[in-house]
Amino acid sequence: MVFILTEKSIKREQWGSKLGFVLAAVGSAVGLGNLWGFAYRSSQGGGAAFVLLYILVVLVVCLPIFVAEFALGRNTSTSAFLAPIKAAGPRWAPLGWLFLIAPLAIASYYAVIMGWTADIFIQSLFVGLPLNPEESSSLFDSIHSGKRDLIGQIFSLGLGAYIISGGIKKGIEKLNKICIPILFIILISLAIWAAFLTNSGVGYRNFLLNFDINQLANPTTIRNAFSQAFFSLSLGIGIMITYASYLNKKSDLPKQAIQIASLDTIVGLMAGLITFPIIFSFGLGETISKSTIATLFITIPSGLGQYGSIGRLVAILFFGLAYIAAITSLISLLEIPVATLIDKFKIKRNLASILTVGFTFIIGIPSALSTNILGNIDAIANVLLILGGFLVSFLVGWVIPKTLDIELKNSGSSSLTKAYLKFMLKYVTPIIVAWGLIISVYDLLKGWLS
Ligand code: PFF
Repeated sequence: MVFILTEKSIKREQWGSKLGFVLAAVGSAVGLGNLWGFAYRSSQGGGAAFVLLYILVVLVVCLPIFVAEFALGRNTSTSAFLAPIKAAGPRWAPLGWLFLIAPLAIASYYAVIMGWTADIFIQSLFVGLPLNPEESSSLFDSIHSGKRDLIGQIFSLGLGAYIISGGIKKGIEKLNKICIPILFIILISLAIWAAFLTNSGVGYRNFLLNFDINQLANPTTIRNAFSQAFFSLSLGIGIMITYASYLNKKSDLPKQAIQIASLDTIVGLMAGLITFPIIFSFGLGETISKSTIATLFITIPSGLGQYGSIGRLVAILFFGLAYIAAITSLISLLEIPVATLIDKFKIKRNLASILTVGFTFIIGIPSALSTNILGNIDAIANVLLILGGFLVSFLVGWVIPKTLDIELKNSGSSSLTKAYLKFMLKYVTPIIVAWGLIISVYDLLKGWLS
């Protein structure tokens, strides 16, 4: 009796509108990965060859997986930890665990990088920018060492807990409705500014027009394209399942998947149109492919530092933009454990948020203390996302195809869309993701052993 009352009294939250859901999913997708990973990976993988592979992975693999995650979430109306069990029985519990461990792992180091972003933002606002790469390197060294690092991480997690404890409509949806339009305005303004830099053409050429066909068969480029696509779209990790669990039955899932994937890809491309001209206009092309961290936190500040007060203003906008993009992603990562605690243990949202953030802080300390550890957790997490993507496509395509049928019907999809998605999720997507997964694991292990 008590149990029934409790169940009744906990009514599952819902998004306030379809737009609110789409903006929240875009907020999750658009993040540091677009601003930092896209440019770095494309410069490592011969520019356009990487971009081409990336777009193919998005179209052939990620779009069907998007719909699969949405269908699973909306149909089960529960968090990603419980959804696989509810849909396909206890044998699928390990997938739920993957959906709990991967977001916690990513959130743990993501909050650290957000701390650096906030630090450089404050530095640009109140102190000024480094004038050359050496100064920039020593600034970054002081940012990512000791207490300064932990303060930024605690601040970002605290902010995340505050927003997420506000709930789906009043916390997550409200934040995204404010942040996403601001983000696009800053992004477009910066891309226009960058177009007028002296060597913007050289930057564009290196980013998009430098096509090295051999890169298409390079395992590292293939791994980069898969990792970037899954990480950037927040796929294979259960976020889209959890967000879709707060949806009502009517929205058109394939249409929303296309909207979200397109906006995210546009942001990735636009970020490249900002960072590449900055880097090449200041003759810093050499440093870009050395590390993801170097591009964002060392090269860009020192490039902009050579550009006087306009450079400083651009730095304030750029790092402000990065922080806004990151907070909307961090809350999506935290929402999975929070929703799990609420759904499984009927804990109040406030307490669930505090517990999640406290735990994330503790497991993030090693990343705050060592960029090496941070890089390794990132590499492992990226492979876990691809594994998650494979398992979701297999689950929805082969084990519970009826769930997909029901949700496509609820979406009002045409018979062509239905036939296409069912075919892809059964015969194409799982095979290609499995191939991407094997190459990624091989490439990761090769890198570690060499
Ligand atoms: N998509 C975000 C980015 O590109 O930075 C980060 C992210 C959020 C990755 C959520 C994975 C995820 F599940």
